[in-house]
Amino acid sequence: MKIGIIGQGYVGLTISVFAGNHFEVVGFDNNQKIVAQLNAGKSHIEGVESRELELLVKSGQYVATSSGEDISDVDLVVIAVPTPLTSDREPDLSYIDAACKTIGENLAKPALIINESTSFPGTLRNYIKPAIEKYSISNIEHLYAISPERVDPGRSDFNQRNTPRLFAGLTPEASKKTREFYSKFCDQLVAVSSPEVAEAAKLFENTFRQVNIALVNEFAQIAHSLGISVYETLDAANTKPYGFMKFTPSAGVGGHCIPVDPTYLAAVAEENGAPATFIRRANEVNLEMSEYIVNRVQADNDGSLQGKSVLVVGVAYKPNVADVRETAAELIIMHLRDRGAVVSWHDNVVGSWHGENSAPLSGADIAVVVTKHDDVKVQDILGSAPYIFDTTGKVPGAKGL
Ligand SMILES: NC(=O)c1ccc[n+]([C@@H]2O[C@H](COP(=O)([O-])OP(=O)(O)OC[C@H]3O[C@@H](n4cnc5c(N)ncnc54)[C@H](O)[C@@H]3O)[C@@H](O)[C@H]2O)c1
Repeated sequence: MKIGIIGQGYVGLTISVFAGNHFEVVGFDNNQKIVAQLNAGKSHIEGVESRELELLVKSGQYVATSSGEDISDVDLVVIAVPTPLTSDREPDLSYIDAACKTIGENLAKPALIINESTSFPGTLRNYIKPAIEKYSISNIEHLYAISPERVDPGRSDFNQRNTPRLFAGLTPEASKKTREFYSKFCDQLVAVSSPEVAEAAKLFENTFRQVNIALVNEFAQIAHSLGISVYETLDAANTKPYGFMKFTPSAGVGGHCIPVDPTYLAAVAEENGAPATFIRRANEVNLEMSEYIVNRVQADNDGSLQGKSVLVVGVAYKPNVADVRETAAELIIMHLRDRGAVVSWHDNVVGSWHGENSAPLSGADIAVVVTKHDDVKVQDILGSAPYIFDTTGKVPGAKGL
């Protein structure tokens, strides 16, 4: 079997490497710089080892390409392209549409097409299948399935092998072939009755996290107003052996999933006349955390940040990854600058961002810890400024939520 994987980012490259150990894989990405790097055996994704990629490239099991013709003879296509929000915070399926165009215009034989990109229920049936048919060079009939991705970049305990995978085909044959494909590198496959259930389950998983993070962020503000420690209170609640799951407060949510996927669910809910008030409000609470934090920092510093040097420690959206998509650090920096602070940031994992480089971890009036990577020492953070505000709960001795 020859597999084409459209999009060679966090999801697509991870799948490519797992699949590459069993099948011939063509990784299609329209970013030619990434393609050149991948063909040189260099991974740009945490959790995908360059060594492993290099072996696959050398053995001819994996090749990256930006040429659509290279997927003309594949037996199976996985779609793993971004599904972000538009500037109006509406679902943006333009990348999915472009992927469908590549598939439709190039795929010259019947294949199984599996979508792994996160989107709202109905995307496979009402959007992807018609789009591929519209762009198709001939009347080839493909099979269609969904298997939402659950990868958590940077995580070592759960991976493609041991994370249960949901799937559903538009037809029983598509379901059967999808199971056969993933069972080569995933131990637990969970069939659901329709693609819409799989699509909705993925959105609900991330909405569950978004809402609980918002709840604990609101609770952090309540605990502070009561003069009690939010962390001690959460640890106390967490001694209950059932009916409670601990979430910890933060500067907000980031990455490609938690700030985005719930909006896909809210959009489809509202389109169908169902309420999404809870989801919409949770999103606002998480976005408002940055302003709350900057208010606290300002109040602790004589009520003014004008002219003060503030170092934001950690701008990636979570520890040990270089991913800055939707990072809460962005809003924190914006609010600090709005109040006249002179802001720099330290994050050697990210390195450079928005044309600025990571600054030394020292010499500021104020440090605000947004993300703590494992290799950043608490001692070094504490020495970086006379006043430290920690939003992570990982810097004992600092002020914090
Ligand atoms: N990152 C995660 O942790 C994660 C987890 C689960 C699900 N997802 C979902 O998976 C999908 C992909 O996310 P990601 O994190 O891998 O994105 P990513 O930005 O890391 O990678 C996407 C890749 O697709 C490429 N691309 C964009 N348009 C293309 C096109 N038309 N043809 C070919 N390549 C194209 C980009 O150049 C990029 O390399 C999204 O729907 C996302 O919500 C992501």
